[in-house]
Order: sequence, then C-alpha cells, then structure tokens
Amino acid sequence: MSVTTTNDFDASPNSLEAFWMPFSANRQFKQAPRLLVSAKDMHYQTHDGRQILDGTAGLWCVNAGHGRKEITEAVAAQIGKLDYAPAFQMGHPLAFRFASQLTAMLPDFDHVFFTNSGSESVDTALKIALAYQRTIGQGSRTRLIGRERGYHGVGFGGISVGGIVSNRKFFGPLLAGVDHLPHTHGVPGNSFAKGQPANGAELADNLERIVALHDPSTIAAVIVEPVAGSTGVLIPPKGYLQKLRQICDKHGILLIFDEVITGFGRLGASFATEYFGVVPDMITCAKGLTNGAVPMGCVFARKGIYDAFMSAPENTIELFHGYTYSAHPVACAAGLATLEIYKREGLFENAAELAPYWEDAVHSLKGTKNVIDLRNLGLVCGIELEPIAGKPTARAFDAFLQCYEKGLLIRTTADIIALSPPLIAKKTHIDQIFDTLGGVLKTLN
Ligand SMILES: Cc1ncc(COP(=O)(O)O)c(C=O)c1O
Repeated sequence: MSVTTTNDFDASPNSLEAFWMPFSANRQFKQAPRLLVSAKDMHYQTHDGRQILDGTAGLWCVNAGHGRKEITEAVAAQIGKLDYAPAFQMGHPLAFRFASQLTAMLPDFDHVFFTNSGSESVDTALKIALAYQRTIGQGSRTRLIGRERGYHGVGFGGISVGGIVSNRKFFGPLLAGVDHLPHTHGVPGNSFAKGQPANGAELADNLERIVALHDPSTIAAVIVEPVAGSTGVLIPPKGYLQKLRQICDKHGILLIFDEVITGFGRLGASFATEYFGVVPDMITCAKGLTNGAVPMGCVFARKGIYDAFMSAPENTIELFHGYTYSAHPVACAAGLATLEIYKREGLFENAAELAPYWEDAVHSLKGTKNVIDLRNLGLVCGIELEPIAGKPTARAFDAFLQCYEKGLLIRTTADIIALSPPLIAKKTHIDQIFDTLGGVLKTLN
C-alpha cells in the first residue's frame, strides 16, 4: 500500500502533468506553460512576473474586471455564514433575492432556474422546453433545432444542438431528433460590415423549410446564440432574429437565446434580447452572472412557462431537474455583489459608450496582412485571418502566442481572433489592444 505523505507531495510540487487541461494542446502547453498567478482590474500577472492586458475578460466572463473587492468580501462573508444549503425542498434567502433581482432586469421573464455553468444552463433550457411542451399537451413536440457553428457548451444536449464539428464528431450519435439551421457566415456583401450586416435575414427562412420537413407538431424549440461567439463572432444580419421569432410564434415553437456570452452587458445593453428588441421564451446565462468569480449559470423563463408547470397537485415536484449546487449560497453572494457593481458603475452603459471607439479600432485593421474579415458589435469583435494552406489554426495560434509574449491576452478559434475586454476598459486599453495586435499581425507569415 502506498501512502501519500507531505514529502511525497512536496517532491514535485510544480509538476504540470496530472492536470488534464480542457480544450488545450496539453503537451505543447506543458513544454512552455503560460501560468496566470493573480489578476487586478484589466490585467493578469504571470508566474514570471509579467503584466498581461486582458483582451478577453478571461473567457468572456470577467465583465466587471478582476479582483473586485466587493465580490471577494461578499463571498468570504457568505462562506463564513452559510457555506452550503440544499436547494431541493429547502432554500436560503440569497437565492430568492438574487432571482428577484435578475428577473427585475428583464420585464418579460418572471422566473430563474439556477445551474453551475453555461453548459448546464443549455441542457436545463432544452429539458424545460421538452417538459413544457408535454405539460401543455404538446407531447409530440420532441425535436430540437440548433444552428451550424453554434456553441452551446459541452453537455450532450449542448453538443447535439451545437454545430461545431470538432466538438461533436468524437462523441457518437448524440441526441436523436435534432436538426440545424444554416449558419450566417460568409453572406455575400457582408465582409468587413460594421455592426449588424445588412444581408442575410432570409437565412432565417430555413426554419420554415425545417418545420415543413418535420411538421410543426414535432418541434419543441429552437436554440441560437443571438451573436455566435465561440465559433468566431458571427453577428446576426439585420432582421434575422426577428424573423426567427416570427416563425417560432407561427408554429408554436419555443425560442431559446443562449446569452452565455451576450448576457450582462457585452453588447452595451443588459442582454441581447434588449439590444435587438427580440424576446425569446428562455435565456441561458452564466459567465458574467458572477463575474466569473464563482461558477454559476441560470435560465430565465418567460412569463407563463413556470405557471404551466404549476397545475400539478401542490405537494408534487413540478420539474424533475436540478443540481446539488443549484443556487449555491456562495455563488449567489458573488452574483448579488456583481449585479451591484454593474449597476453602480454603469458598466453596460460604459460598454455602449465605448462601442463606436471599439468599432473604429477594430476596423483600423482593414488592409492588414492576412486579415480577410472584421466583425464587431458592442464590446466584442472577430478578426478573421487567411489560414495557412494545409495548416488551419496555425496562423491565429501564432498570433495568440506572440500577443501573450507582448503582454496581451487574445482568444483564437480556428483562424479567427475574438476579443471581448472587461467592460471597465478605457480607450487607452483599446488603443493598447489594437497597437499590440496590429504589430503582431504585421509580422506573421
Ligand atoms: C453561448 C455559449 N453557451 C454555452 C457555453 C458553455 O458555458 P460553460 O463553459 O460555462 O459550460 C458557452 C461558453 O463559452 C457559450 O459561449
């Protein structure tokens, strides 16, 4: 029998081997690690003492910037007072307070279901959609419609409705009864569009085609990201989301917006639903919900959805779904402190005010070597590079490594660079982001 002693542990305290890193080139990373050891406001500090400007709000989540004292204090106080409380048949005050404050942000939505991540929010929304249709006597509606290039996390539901090939192809047949809308990338006339592109609303009409193929009576819900983020920032053409809403209404299909990235100010409005003026039936969130400080997600349900479940006898469980950590008290504390910062500092408004400056900075890269498209909305952008022949992803990854060396964190997906700084950014940060990136792009092969 072997016993792990302190000495055994100390023997290799800095080994990088045991951690199987997610969505990472493990071997490459472990040869030349990039370790972040602390963070404050707009910057990370690395293990070798360098400052890195955060051009991506972590993974699109640290909207209020890093190291926020109010969140730290709220979390510390809560863990000391009530570290955990079961959410099944039990409750604690912060969960109800947080849910009330969240629904107050969205007048058409009156209930919130708590999860621990974006992936869980997506699977929760899909399950609520199926259960809702059954509850209202539409049990034949079991089909789910996603979209090509969509990213809805990594649960089986999310990868089934998602449309990113590498996230799907290794994992078997996935959910049955799923179909996909076409993506909105590459519509002629849309290259280098500023804000929402003019062309392509008619792509939403493919939903009519899919409905006709399967019959409306078989379709429960459509799920899309209002702005597709992880696939490389695809902005919806003008009128596209409105058309999806109309077609869903016509056929009794629920519309789910996956706002895991667009929620909490990224577009310069509270949520994409507010920004685009299109109201879905459910909204999935995570990330900015707690400023990334404690894992948490949620699903907003439009008025009427929760009520439909309440016709069962009063002492029965209405929805057989939930997580051990749903509405975790420490996450709720982080979330409440986060909402308070967003409001007090007007961070969504700050994002809206900065958006035109951001747009100009993004489009200043037009004409730069290898840049084949630029897309932007709110405080997010996609910079698409010409892939190196026979080596897809290599050029953008090289840009990522060089930016990191020069003190800037960017994110890449295939050969697209995605940027989404914390909403506390100032114009000087935007200047630094694009000066650094522009310089790097010029030197790439
Ligand atoms: C739109 C969208 N949905 C779902 C997810 C999954 O979230 P998580 O990684 O918290 O599971 C993400 C993550 O980036 C996302 O962008």
